[in-house]
Amino acid sequence: MGACRENCADKMEQFLKRCYYHSGQYNSEEHFAELDSKLKEKEGASSNRLFYLSIPPNIFVDVVKCAGTRASSTSGWTRVIVEKPFGRDSESSRELTRSLKKYLSEDQIFRIDHYLGKELVENLSVLRFSNLVFEPLWSRNYIRNVQFIFSENFGTEGRGGYFDSYGIIRDIMQNHLLQILALFAMETPVSLDAEDIRNEKVKVLKSMRPLQLEDVIIGQYKGHTEGSISHPGYTDDPTVPKGSITPTFAAAALFINNARWDGVPFLMKAGKALHTKKLVNLLYSKLIHYVLVCNWIIKALDFFDNYKTHRAEIRVQFRHVPGNLYRRNFGTDLDKATNELVLRLQPDEAIFLKINNKVPGLGMRLDRSDLNLLYSARYRKEIPDAYERLLLDAIEGERRLFIRSDELDAAWSLFSPVLRELEEKKIAPELYPYGSRGPVGAHYLAAKHNVRWGDLSGED
Ligand code: BG6
Repeated sequence: MGACRENCADKMEQFLKRCYYHSGQYNSEEHFAELDSKLKEKEGASSNRLFYLSIPPNIFVDVVKCAGTRASSTSGWTRVIVEKPFGRDSESSRELTRSLKKYLSEDQIFRIDHYLGKELVENLSVLRFSNLVFEPLWSRNYIRNVQFIFSENFGTEGRGGYFDSYGIIRDIMQNHLLQILALFAMETPVSLDAEDIRNEKVKVLKSMRPLQLEDVIIGQYKGHTEGSISHPGYTDDPTVPKGSITPTFAAAALFINNARWDGVPFLMKAGKALHTKKLVNLLYSKLIHYVLVCNWIIKALDFFDNYKTHRAEIRVQFRHVPGNLYRRNFGTDLDKATNELVLRLQPDEAIFLKINNKVPGLGMRLDRSDLNLLYSARYRKEIPDAYERLLLDAIEGERRLFIRSDELDAAWSLFSPVLRELEEKKIAPELYPYGSRGPVGAHYLAAKHNVRWGDLSGED
């Protein structure tokens, strides 16, 4: 991959010369047969075929049927990458799997979850299983809670059509966040082989306590005006049906009923149109004494503030040090002394370990500092896009980062009952202003499980 990046322009030109467009109906075997003939003209004696389906879910099966029966490779392998949504609940997902398997075997199906291709997610197992300092702490004995947080600082903006029939729980939690949770919490696999890793993920997903409605909070963003800028609410999006109660925010408390994790809350939070740390505010709070704040600086920062960002992180909060000799240095709030491990998936990939440290000097003052691994400072190279990694894996037949049917089934089993209940009872989401921190219900949910979201020292 490195070499390709260096000679990208040449390689891209060669690649583009070999690309062509062939139009046809999704459900026409005849059109797929034409595609087959066209491909044969270009292919060598032995050739493999990879179909990448980023198409509406209602036509998955038609395409797979036509491709499988009329356009499979006759001299090499045929694989199909499928993008989510893989159904809307357990039943529809099982039905989809059953239909796909009429035409494909399990090892031809590559269900993609692009979060598994993110650099920090790949690193999770390395961090845990190749460092002595982490794995022994990785249990209820030392970890108080784990948080999986996803936030975007923008709304659906025209994508409401797709989003409204799925909502944030299906869009982000049931797949991206749950996949990360499974990798985080699984037992040590027998090897790094795809089947061994996926076996462990399935086991941990099956050990999860059924999610209860009282452990779920849902929200939806409403319009908000800040200064001269007005942001529309979710239902103002013309692609969203009026009066929709689809959640754009959700928080959930999950538990794993096994010896390692019994009683440890795994909290998830995902939302659109949420607050991000504003550069303008940062400037005011940190630099006001040193910088003459001119109007144009503010304008420039405003521009960057309105940049779309997707934040995703895993936060691990450790237990208090028993009988901490330095407890009086922390005042009454012992949480301020809690060690935290933060894996920032994006933006600006980083790993932080929050530790207590003595402030240099003659006295004995402690502060909370970061052991800080900022990827951009440590590794001066571009981080591959998640899709780049996953497409390459699919070509190479590496299945470790793709979702097996039984994994998918276990993931749906966890969320389907609660999704059904939310929909049957037509539970209205708590409204939160665009650009805010989300519904207050999320804080009550965390407090109920003795958890505080985010940085315990309140720094971010
Ligand atoms: C997709 C969701 O799977 O992930 C989107 O459908 C979301 O709603 C996106 O915006 C976020 O991906 P990333 O990689 O930009 O964080």
